Amino acid sequence: MMSNWKPGTKLQSGRYEINKVLGYGGSGITYRAKENPHGHSVAIKTLNTIIQNKADFSRHQERFIQEAFCLAKCNHDHVIKVHNVCQEGQLWCMVMDYIAGGTLRQYVNYKKNSISEEEALKYIKQIGSALTYIHEQGFIHRDVKPGNIMIRKRDMQAILIDFGLAREFVQDKIQTHTNACTESFAPLEQYELKAKRGAYTDVYALAATLYYILTLQLPFPAPFRQQGATLIPPKQHNPDISNTVNVAILQGMELSVKKRPQSIQEWLKMLTEKQVNVRQKNIWRNSKQVVINTANQEQLSINKKSDNSEIANKIKSTSKSKKETKIAQNISKIVSISASEINYKMLQKLLAIGNLKEADQETAKIILKLTNREKKGWLDKHHIEKLPCHELQIINQLWHEASNGHFGFSVQKKLYQSLGGKQDYDAKIWCKFGDKVGWRHNKNWLSYKDLNFNLWAPQGHLPMLGMQFWGFRGWLTVLINQLNICQI
Ligand SMILES: Nc1ncnc2c1ncn2[C@@H]1O[C@H](COP(=O)(O)OP(=O)(O)O)[C@@H](O)[C@H]1O
Ligand SMILES: [Mg+2]
Repeated sequence: MMSNWKPGTKLQSGRYEINKVLGYGGSGITYRAKENPHGHSVAIKTLNTIIQNKADFSRHQERFIQEAFCLAKCNHDHVIKVHNVCQEGQLWCMVMDYIAGGTLRQYVNYKKNSISEEEALKYIKQIGSALTYIHEQGFIHRDVKPGNIMIRKRDMQAILIDFGLAREFVQDKIQTHTNACTESFAPLEQYELKAKRGAYTDVYALAATLYYILTLQLPFPAPFRQQGATLIPPKQHNPDISNTVNVAILQGMELSVKKRPQSIQEWLKMLTEKQVNVRQKNIWRNSKQVVINTANQEQLSINKKSDNSEIANKIKSTSKSKKETKIAQNISKIVSISASEINYKMLQKLLAIGNLKEADQETAKIILKLTNREKKGWLDKHHIEKLPCHELQIINQLWHEASNGHFGFSVQKKLYQSLGGKQDYDAKIWCKFGDKVGWRHNKNWLSYKDLNFNLWAPQGHLPMLGMQFWGFRGWLTVLINQLNICQI
């Protein structure tokens, strides 16, 4: 049995006439058809030929019928309307409203970086209300993602489609589900065959959807994150994202079910909260604590023989040269004449022994102190613009000289400008720069822990100060503008 309907095929004794294929997915195929006698368009979904040829086709078909009936029961402005569930030969079909427009994924990619937070929130709230509705009906969608949301061109409304994975759920009961998920949008509990699932499962996916449509970057999949890859805050990809939304996304994408808002409504509320509340403050405090704690722990091991001892020896042996001695003296001079209360001794020591990861984190600490951002743990545009020239000069010189001209802000500035970087942020040059200094590999930005904290790293690789440190995407451009002002 193989049914792949060509344009012109008539179904249900001529009631529907197939026009074209709209989409071919993992298990389904969706057609656009004309409904006679009025001739208006409908979308007809059925199982695709791959599934039709499977031995367990009837099991799939049962599930498909379940999707159709689940949807047919629903009546909500932002949930796709099913007007007919019917059988054509051996195949069951679901006849739905045809949405003229495109998926949210297609739409944001077509608009490039130009969809505003306000517009993104409009769609997310609409899909949020659709999800709240289906949760009240006792279902979870389990496959929320930009490709399963349609944007109707006529009135620019968002409609939730593709209930192929939707299951009836009893909140918080452990259930056995089939393990199908879309990597970047699925929470951790969806990777386990037997795990608790509830409304919070769709909260994660909706938060990840917002992450994608505001940044055009796929968030790291949950299992990678569990293994230690830190989720890059969306604001780091797109500086125009407000703090409230940035934090709400991170909160909605918490790996642990307990820490995540438990309902869509609870999460939607966080998106519009004006004030930074206690919970939000905690996120920053926690992320900062991680950095500081590791720095403290690692500081304890400075004198121990570590992986870096080889590098330390390399630096020590080269610094015996006259030139290096002179540089060391210079650094001492700089360190002692610093007008601020900042103590550069630790940074100097870490650089001297080649413990570059700790040196990087110490640099972050110093910069936070300089900008009075120790409590927050990250910087925004205007904080960078307030960085004092004298201090920037010291930090740069320490890095530059300890690495023999290999690292430092001034090295990064030169490289950025050599790639055509100007005063305004330019995404293409930023990516080229990422490639050049080794912050990007195979078109992916590396996580902080994957950076190279040794002298064999590419030129300009350090300092980096942690992904969460720079609160927005165009930070380097702002920093370089500041270096120019300071003539560094
Ligand atoms: N009601 C509809 N109106 C217009 N296009 C649709 C409709 N339903 C689905 N599509 C198109 O078909 C594609 C696949 O549909 P979907 O239900 O997501 O199935 P799949 O299981 O293949 O992902 C969608 O991405 C969309 O482009
Ligand atoms: Mg789909």
